Amino acid sequence: THQWRGIIEEYRDRLPVTDTTPVVTLGEGGTPLVPAQVLSERTGCEVRLKVEGANPTGSFKDRGMTMAITRAKEEGAQAVICASTGNTSASAAAYAVRAGMVCAVLVPQGKIALGKMGQALVYGSRILQVDGNFDDCLNLARRLSENYPVALVNSVNPYRIEGQKTAAFEIVDALGDAPDIHVLPVGNAGNITAYWKGYKEYAADKMSTHTPRMWGFQASGSAPIVRGEIVKDPSTIATAIRIGNPASWQQALAARDESGGFIDEVTDREILRAYRLLAAQEGVFVEPASAASVAGLLKAAEQGKVDPGQRIVCTVTGNGLKDPDWAVAGAPQPVTVPVDAVAAAEQLGLA
Ligand code: F0G
Repeated sequence: THQWRGIIEEYRDRLPVTDTTPVVTLGEGGTPLVPAQVLSERTGCEVRLKVEGANPTGSFKDRGMTMAITRAKEEGAQAVICASTGNTSASAAAYAVRAGMVCAVLVPQGKIALGKMGQALVYGSRILQVDGNFDDCLNLARRLSENYPVALVNSVNPYRIEGQKTAAFEIVDALGDAPDIHVLPVGNAGNITAYWKGYKEYAADKMSTHTPRMWGFQASGSAPIVRGEIVKDPSTIATAIRIGNPASWQQALAARDESGGFIDEVTDREILRAYRLLAAQEGVFVEPASAASVAGLLKAAEQGKVDPGQRIVCTVTGNGLKDPDWAVAGAPQPVTVPVDAVAAAEQLGLA
């Protein structure tokens, strides 16, 4: 049989586990790498989408969380904690259930999408809404993990990066080599760090002939890496990446510079345009933060930075169902009809 076994079993020899490690998994990874027809036409390149919303809790965080919770379990932890803009907390809560652990989550008050709050609640985590932003939540989570018996599972936990690097392996395995360019949204900067580590490891072991250039995109109102300074009051409709002081800032700069890439910003308007294009023209429904990668690719193409004929992969990080408000907002209200075929056909323009 060919049932995908989760990233730890699939990439066991490249991850920090032993034969006796108690693997905590929900079958994460093995996500689709979907050819993007419209984006390919617009850029003259071969563009593919790595659809991470297909993971068990609907985001790429599951790759890191299976590894972090597995190692926390192995080390005897009974409780885990994280700060989150919503996806990390959803993932931590789910894997903590599988591991029989308590999960505490700290989220910025009023700034996480409803679907993500619903996940943290239904998985039974202990949620605190903090009167502050994500950066405040992370500081608080760090302090709690230093002073109380609770393990921190944010991406400052190195096992998170280990798990998340497997997305790069999957892409090389699927394409037969690394892409020329890899594009992704940047928030706390753990994921760009993880992909770059994965691509470097595969290239070092001759699993690919080269590494891609890493292109990262932040939201304009939350672009500390682009600006070169902490953003005290970050803002963007892409709440997942509403972060003013990324924990993996230096690692993101290293990924950018070692790969010959760049980190730029996209406006909320550009993000929403890419969000709608992805759904309406590629059939891929993502959350707004995820569309930052595609918005960035389109911006770069308009600036003439994209030479035709290249292989490009855009990671779309989270499922559109997490934050459906943006799908409904601004869309026309559906028409109500009686139970009548003629009336329905008229409304549909079939008659
Ligand atoms: N896209 C989504 C959907 C995210 O949830 C995040 C981060 C990112 C992109 C950025 O990834 O932080 O590794 O650079 N979400 C974190 C959270 C902060 O708490 O769920 P990054």
